[in-house]
Amino acid sequence: MNFHDLIVKRRSIRRYTGDPISAEDVKLIFEAGLLAPSSKNQRSCRFIAVDDPETIQKLAECKPAGARPIANCSLAIVIGSDTTLSEPWIEDASIAATLMQVQITQLDLGSCWIQVRGRDHSDGISAEQYVRDLLGIPDHIGILCILSVGHPDEERPLQNVDKLCWDHVHIEKWHAGE
Ligand SMILES: Cc1cc2nc3c(=O)[nH]c(=O)nc-3n(C[C@H](O)[C@H](O)[C@H](O)COP(=O)(O)O)c2cc1C
Repeated sequence: MNFHDLIVKRRSIRRYTGDPISAEDVKLIFEAGLLAPSSKNQRSCRFIAVDDPETIQKLAECKPAGARPIANCSLAIVIGSDTTLSEPWIEDASIAATLMQVQITQLDLGSCWIQVRGRDHSDGISAEQYVRDLLGIPDHIGILCILSVGHPDEERPLQNVDKLCWDHVHIEKWHAGE
């Protein structure tokens, strides 16, 4: 599949069959994250692969809404970054997450980005703190998101290239009113 077809095919997949993901596919997914570019080539990203069902259920409770896709995934990937290595750690981790999602699509698997950074778990406890405590992640690792990954149990339409927001693209300078 060429790259354009791949990014047209990529959709957030939130329902999974529960079948395991092969070790070869898991390796390719992590290779995509580890191959991602990073600021000053600091390779700040850190990943935690979770396939223990009990821990997966707990990760699905990291925030009150929007984290349910984790509950039925086969693999949850917590994506963070060493904030002492990279001031733009959020960008480093975002690029890694995106490349991993594209690789996941290429493998005919599905994934969904579950936002952790900046979200609340409950009163006074951030989703980030909840995940940090659950997995023993040290304070200097910022936690961006969790990718829920699995074999798709839903069909999503391809992205519609005819409905792209071309008005978001400005030519040569910003055109007021657009
Ligand atoms: C930064 C970011 C945060 C997101 N957070 C969540 C989330 O917490 N839960 C969720 O179900 N989807 C989440 N998504 C997925 C978006 O809802 C999804 O990408 C968007 O609706 C477009 O749909 P598509 O991915 O199928 O093209 C997130 C996506 C991004 C890029």
